[in-house]
Amino acid sequence: MRKLKIVSIVGARPQFIKYGPLGRKLKREFEEVLIHTGQHYDRNMSDLLFKDLNIPEPDINLGIGSHPQGKQTALMMEGIEKALLRIQPDVVIVFGDTNSTLAGALAAVKLHIGVAHVEAGLRSFNKQMPEEINRVLTDHCSDILLCPTENAVVNLKTENITRGVSFCGDIMYEAFLENVRIAGQKSEILQKEALQEGSYYLATVHRAENTDNPDNLWRILSAFNELDRTVIFPVHPRTRQILKKADIRLKEHVKLWEPVGYLDMLVLLEHARKVLTDSGGLQKEAYFAGRYCKTLRNETEWIETLKNGRNVLCGTDSGKIVQECLKSEEAFGKGESGLFGDGHTSEHIVQTLKQFFNEQ
Ligand code: UD1
Repeated sequence: MRKLKIVSIVGARPQFIKYGPLGRKLKREFEEVLIHTGQHYDRNMSDLLFKDLNIPEPDINLGIGSHPQGKQTALMMEGIEKALLRIQPDVVIVFGDTNSTLAGALAAVKLHIGVAHVEAGLRSFNKQMPEEINRVLTDHCSDILLCPTENAVVNLKTENITRGVSFCGDIMYEAFLENVRIAGQKSEILQKEALQEGSYYLATVHRAENTDNPDNLWRILSAFNELDRTVIFPVHPRTRQILKKADIRLKEHVKLWEPVGYLDMLVLLEHARKVLTDSGGLQKEAYFAGRYCKTLRNETEWIETLKNGRNVLCGTDSGKIVQECLKSEEAFGKGESGLFGDGHTSEHIVQTLKQFFNEQ
C-alpha cells in the first residue's frame, strides 16, 4: 500500500517544540516533508531549538523572515503553495496559531489538500490578537482538528465544528515529559549563572499587545523593578528592539538575557520561584513543572491552568503583578496530567491521521 504523503509546516519557536515529539513518528509512519517558513531565523530562536529537540534539518526553508502581518503571511503562502504543487501531499499539518499556521492552512485548503491542525479549538476570544484570527480561520479550513484539551473540543462545537474533531491531548505536555529529564542531565544553566532553587523569578514578554503598547510594557517592567529577587528575563527579539528605543531604566536585579534553548528553559522553569509571562506555552509549562504562574494578559486560552490559582491573570496591572509575586506560595508539585492528555499525543495524532485516510 502507498504510504501517505504528509507536509508539516513550522516557522516559529513554539512550533519547533510541538513538532519535536511528533516529527519522528511522522517520518517513521508516513512519507513526510518538513517545511520551515523562516518566520523565526535567529540562531537562538530557531537553530538552538532544532538542536535541543533533535529535529533534522527542514527539507525546505522558505527564509521568509520578518515583515508586517499581511506581507509575512502572503509571502509564506506563495512559497508554501509552490512547494505543495510540487510535492502533491495528501495532507498538510500545521501547528498552533502563528502566521505560519494560517499561511500553511490557507495555501493547502485552496489546493484541495487536507489540513490537519495540531492544537485546534483554542480561543482567547480576543480578536485584537493576531493569534486568535489565525486560530479561528485555521480551524474553519481544517479537515482534521487535533484538540489538546476537552475545552478545545467544546469551543469548536460552539462554532459548529464537529466533523474531524478529536481530543488527542497536548503535544507540549508530551514534549515536556520527554525532555525534562534530559534537560536535568544536559543543561548547565543553573551552575553557569549561579542560580539557586527558588531564588529567582522567570519572566518572558513578547505578545504584540504588551510590546507594541509602551504603557503596557512600562507597567510590566515597573512591576519587575519592584520584585524582591532576581528576575531572569530571556528577551524575545521583538521585545529587545522595543526596549532599545524605549527609555525604561531597569534595576540591577532584572537580568536581560538572550533567548535560551528549550532544555535550559525547562531547567530554569523547574527551579524558578514563580513564572511571569504572556506566552501561552510557558503558562502551561509552568503548570506542568508545578510552578505558580502570573500571566501578563487579561485572558488565557489555557483555562485549565487557572484552577486552584495555579495561574493568575494579572494583565498589565503593576500592583497586582507585584502582590501576586510576593504572596507566599510554594511550588505545588507537578500539575494534574489528565487535563492535557496522557502524554502520548503524538501516537494519538498518528492514529487519527491513519483512520481519517482509511475512511476516505
Ligand atoms: C510569533 C507568533 C506568536 C508566537 C511567537 C513565539 C504570529 C502572529 N505570532 O510572534 O504567536 O507566540 O512567534 O515566539 O505569528 N525577530 C527576530 N528574530 C527572529 C524572530 C523574530 O529578530 O528569529 C523579530 C522580528 O524583527 C520581528 C519581531 O521579532 O519584528 C516579531 O517576529 P514575528 O515572527 O512577526 O512574531 P513574534 O513576535 O515572534
